[in-house]
Amino acid sequence: MLKISDRAKNVSPSLTLAISTQANKMKSEGVDVVSFAVGEPDFNTPDYIIDAAKVALDKGMTKYTPVPGTKEFREQICKKFKDDNGLDYVSDQIIVSTGGKQSLYNVFQTIVQEGDEVILLAPYWLSYPEMVKFCGGKVVSVDLADDDFNLNIEKIEKAITDKTRAILINTPNNPTGVVYDKDQLSKLAEMLKKYPDIWVISDEIYEKLVYDGKQHFSIAAYDQDMYNRTFVVNGMSKSYAMTGWRIGYVACPTVQIAKALSGLQSHQTSNTNSIAQYAACAALKGGNDFIADMQKTFDGRRKLIVDLFKNAKDVSVVTPSGAFYLMLNVSKLFGRSYKGNKISSAFDFADLLIKYAYVATVPCEGFGAPLFVRLSYATSEAQIKKGVERIIDFIGQID
Ligand SMILES: Cc1ncc(COP(=O)(O)O)c(C=O)c1O
Repeated sequence: MLKISDRAKNVSPSLTLAISTQANKMKSEGVDVVSFAVGEPDFNTPDYIIDAAKVALDKGMTKYTPVPGTKEFREQICKKFKDDNGLDYVSDQIIVSTGGKQSLYNVFQTIVQEGDEVILLAPYWLSYPEMVKFCGGKVVSVDLADDDFNLNIEKIEKAITDKTRAILINTPNNPTGVVYDKDQLSKLAEMLKKYPDIWVISDEIYEKLVYDGKQHFSIAAYDQDMYNRTFVVNGMSKSYAMTGWRIGYVACPTVQIAKALSGLQSHQTSNTNSIAQYAACAALKGGNDFIADMQKTFDGRRKLIVDLFKNAKDVSVVTPSGAFYLMLNVSKLFGRSYKGNKISSAFDFADLLIKYAYVATVPCEGFGAPLFVRLSYATSEAQIKKGVERIIDFIGQID
């Protein structure tokens, strides 16, 4: 019998992408769907970046580059780490990959052995557990829903065993929108000093999208010990509205570790797209004007969506202070019915909502948060108003 591997069988396909696809299909069939499912800015890539890609084409920059990325781009990334995060890296510590997703894969593949445990803080981005499983690791989930999604150091320490290989932190967080402040991260760093064999993976891809005067802080900048064991993952997708260009990067603690990562990548994708690298380098050189405008727009939408849910019955939200997501707690609706259809889970809620009210949301079972659905407010204010109105109306019809 022809068989596929357990590795492939055990991986769950991305639910977020599946729901976005379903919403797009309904739209193409003429259904007026409001989609809160997408995980990407609804802005176009700024013109100066697109122009840089055209220049790259005209200059014939269409060949393989070094596997970890062009020297010029990696140097620019070092400058970004220095300017934004106070972190000193040399270009040989930086590996550029096909999106932050591949950067994360590379890190897991480099440090996780069969049977190793990786601590994820729930709610977490739904790709992490699949990546850990793919590398033969075991996910140990620490539930932070009762802590308003903030770090609970005691709970995290309890999850550590002699098999713990790594802990992943994601700030600003997808799906919660929480930003861990310097104080929380310092406490985590201090606790981890007792466990010198645990790597830290810090996913900072939403770094530029913080609100309410919050400051992004990279745990790698806490002290030399943290620097020596932290992989900092970042990328162009969310900050520069460049999701389709597929450029992510990771800063490794040493040049030697970076070489191991690069070795893995050399047999997978080699370098990521040469033209996109050139454009991404220009993006970083271009400063923060575009980001500041985008951040302001997202902030306005964030306030609007939180406000629209303020008086909603039977659901609640935790005000996010980063990224572009809102978590809606729908657990009070469990056990009730909509038009004879029982709602037993966030999945049921989201399924009925898209079918009957034409609003796409992402149920958060896959994010380790089964009481919630996630709404992305990376859409216009008009769509936000229409979508939330439909959700509230839908909830009002639940028996
Ligand atoms: C938390 C988080 N990390 C990493 C990524 C990867 O983004 P990309 O592969 O587009 O760089 C995403 C994308 O949705 C994300 O939400």
